[in-house]
Amino acid sequence: MKIGTIDLGPRPLLLAPMEDVTDVGFRLLCRRMGAAMVYSEFVAADALVRMVKPSLAKLHVVEEERPVAIQIYGKDPVAMADAAQIVVEQARPDVLDINFGCPVKRVAAKGAGAGLLQNVPLLLQIARSVVEAVDIPVTAKTRLGWDCEHLIIPRLARDLQETGIQALTIHGRTRSQMYTGRADWSLIGQVKADPAMRIPIIGNGDITTPAAAREAFERYGVDAVMVGRATFGRPWVFAEMREALGQPPVPASAAAPIGDPDRQLDILKQQVLESVARTGEKRGILHIRRHLAATPLFKGIPDFRQHRIAILRAETVADLFRLLEEARPLVHAQAATATQNESEMGSPL
Ligand SMILES: Cc1cc2nc3c(=O)[nH]c(=O)nc-3n(C[C@H](O)[C@H](O)[C@H](O)COP(=O)(O)O)c2cc1C
Repeated sequence: MKIGTIDLGPRPLLLAPMEDVTDVGFRLLCRRMGAAMVYSEFVAADALVRMVKPSLAKLHVVEEERPVAIQIYGKDPVAMADAAQIVVEQARPDVLDINFGCPVKRVAAKGAGAGLLQNVPLLLQIARSVVEAVDIPVTAKTRLGWDCEHLIIPRLARDLQETGIQALTIHGRTRSQMYTGRADWSLIGQVKADPAMRIPIIGNGDITTPAAAREAFERYGVDAVMVGRATFGRPWVFAEMREALGQPPVPASAAAPIGDPDRQLDILKQQVLESVARTGEKRGILHIRRHLAATPLFKGIPDFRQHRIAILRAETVADLFRLLEEARPLVHAQAATATQNESEMGSPL
């Protein structure tokens, strides 16, 4: 699958843009685990144009993570074009992505992100002006429509293609749904099957298992699958999905079996260290708590609640690592039990 001239290989898995999650450290980790391309969190065009420092800092990319996409959002075509040029000057990402899907009030209610699904002419004008402003591939990410009465994506996808964007990501929910309910992949499949569509279609929403990733490609025919929340505390999900897709293991997962709970615990510890190195002990640990809370490594361990709470309350690396090491034999035992149950019941795949 190609976005412009960027070849992402067959059936690529992409790390979704996620605010306060997909910083350079996490993007690098996910690339090493097998993500074919990674996205920055969205960056406000208005702030970039005003050269607001924290927003400019979000444009930081490193060579090793390429191909990488930077995502911007806004509601003014001129500011969006200016911001796009700033992104290219500062970071020269491989892809520039436009956010037409953010449902949160502070964005959508102000007419940006998914708010633009209520003003399609302006949405298309923004896409055109960004495409014209830069010499790198421009892509867009959106939802099915504003609400279930306005599932505009089949028509919108055609119109967006005409603006010159080079790939379209569709999250199978409406703005009204926010993150509730199940993502509806049938409309994503319908867009992909539309003979008028020539640009790659990237499917997104609720892909949490290797089997779901395979189904997305095989049943809905998408060109790429984008994975978001399933990566929390589980960046190795990309390696697991690659395996299910019959793709060769990435070097990072070939070095030691990716299914090994020891290895997975070490990956989480590494994530803590990288986060702390970047932002200091307090903020670094705070930043990684989302991953520690979500990781499947501790799921199903009997009587683990108090220990888990202590892990989530730890304020120093020393305390956190001591607690994680204390958990290691329990993680091991739980993984062994799960493997035994799986082999008794037959593999879910
Ligand atoms: C914490 C969080 C932050 C997000 N930030 C962004 C963002 O900056 N830009 C964007 O396009 N989508 C953002 N999203 C949406 C995700 O990219 C993705 O579309 C959504 O989570 C559905 O995919 P999933 O079911 O695989 O998580 C965010 C989602 C979460 C959970």
